[in-house]
Amino acid sequence: MINYSDFQSASAEPEASSMIETFRAIGYSIETAIADIVDNSITAGAKNIWIDYNWKGSNTTLSILDDGTGMNNEQLIQAMRPGSRNPLEERSSDDLGRFGLGLKTASFSQSRKFTVFSRAKDYKPIFWTWDLDYVNQVQAWKLIRHIPDEENWTQKIEALETGTCVIWWNLDRLTKDTVEDSEEAKSKFLGIMDSVKSHLSMVFHKFMDDGLKIYFRDRLIKSWDPFMIGVDGLQPKPETRLESGSIRIKGFVLPHRSKLSAEQYNYGKGPKDSWTAHQGFYVYRNRRLLVAGDWLGLFKREVHYDLCRIQIDLPNNFDSDWQIDIKKSIARPPSIYREQILAIAKEARNQAVEVYRHKGKVLKRKLASDEYFPFWEERARHSKRFYKINRNHPLLTDLYSKSGELKREIEKVIQFIEETIPVPLITLQESENEKPHGQPFEGIDHSAIKETMQKLFNGFVSTGLSVEKAKARILNTEPFNFYPEYIEFIANE
Ligand SMILES: Nc1ncnc2c1ncn2[C@@H]1O[C@H](COP(=O)(O)OP(=O)(O)OP(=O)(O)O)[C@@H](O)[C@H]1O
Ligand SMILES: [Mg+2]
Repeated sequence: MINYSDFQSASAEPEASSMIETFRAIGYSIETAIADIVDNSITAGAKNIWIDYNWKGSNTTLSILDDGTGMNNEQLIQAMRPGSRNPLEERSSDDLGRFGLGLKTASFSQSRKFTVFSRAKDYKPIFWTWDLDYVNQVQAWKLIRHIPDEENWTQKIEALETGTCVIWWNLDRLTKDTVEDSEEAKSKFLGIMDSVKSHLSMVFHKFMDDGLKIYFRDRLIKSWDPFMIGVDGLQPKPETRLESGSIRIKGFVLPHRSKLSAEQYNYGKGPKDSWTAHQGFYVYRNRRLLVAGDWLGLFKREVHYDLCRIQIDLPNNFDSDWQIDIKKSIARPPSIYREQILAIAKEARNQAVEVYRHKGKVLKRKLASDEYFPFWEERARHSKRFYKINRNHPLLTDLYSKSGELKREIEKVIQFIEETIPVPLITLQESENEKPHGQPFEGIDHSAIKETMQKLFNGFVSTGLSVEKAKARILNTEPFNFYPEYIEFIANE
């Protein structure tokens, strides 16, 4: 072992103000920052949490008050220290913290100055403030005992037997250079506050369902359950347990759109306002949601997996294995579970695709006898193979019928495409390249497919085809046959 007393040593303490500026760059959003403060309230046993703001342009303040156990002077000073606890320390099983940093990093991410006011049982209320301008001035890790409008805040805390209030002064990141009476700035701010609300309704939904009350400007926030437990047609998959049951994984296939009311369908869109953005894994740590709808790098987001959501429940003693970050917004499965998680996800995803495509498939089967329109056709010429674009394809007939004088030119371009298509290269790549060939429009925006389907449909119907026949023809036409799920979005105008 090294005998350190043999060596000379020198102090290299962090430079306070630059270190705090670095905290500001950790990358919190206002939503994740507030959630980090709410974590602390929940760990402190709060039953009620009140979030409030006072819009004053660039001097807007925001406060998060709880009725948890509170802190006495000594505990509060310790809590205000960056790195107040060692991340390696074992935490009680319901603790949402890990790094001893969240209170400070989340607060500084939004504000240059914040106060924590607290009251523990049998103690007087106490407060301390971190003020980056003061830290800059004295170049030291020093708190101050200053709080604007002290009496007002004292009253708030005294109304509770115990509790804590975190006050962010000047939300400088969010409201920089805005003035109080700018309607535009205010409505932008209110929009952001709405997304804070919906973020909290999702991240803490399990706590809220068990009785925790979070109020936003005195209005109770309703929880949002990504799995829509209880809705008709939901298909929960069996639960898989890892690590003697302490890690649990469960897939859900949500009901097809046609089985949901308009209200339920909108509910399913969740805080991100999109089914596609909400597909994927939901990783919970001690019932607190860390990751809300992400394929964790294992798969790509594709619309036909919209109905697949997979819950992963973790306790708080695998934090380093799962690479939980300070912001509590990242979790990565350790490689030892990768295969198992992949298998569970694949099964749930396959089932979700089946449900998603069911309607389109039924229609296709019903009208399978209808003519099929490939886009490309193989032809022989002088005993050689060539690939030609099908001139009877509905897209081509439509284009030619409208092309007028340009018809000959279009025909020429198409002929050039046909004659120069790099068949040998494609064949070679197909046999030698490990990467599989993508299907038409895979991984790119699908609006072109949807719009074209609608246009074709309108055309077919206008020529006297029935709605059902028109839809069937589209499903028998390349490349729309790859996307039967879009058929039901076609509007019959
Ligand atoms: N609302 C609160 N009520 C009571 N104690 C609190 C409250 N907020 C913070 N604390 C105390 O302050 C400490 C530091 O909080 P902080 O969020 O900085 O770190 P943490 O929660 O321990 O870990 P993490 O960095 O993962 O959030 C907490 O461990 C807790 O003891
Ligand atoms: Mg914390």
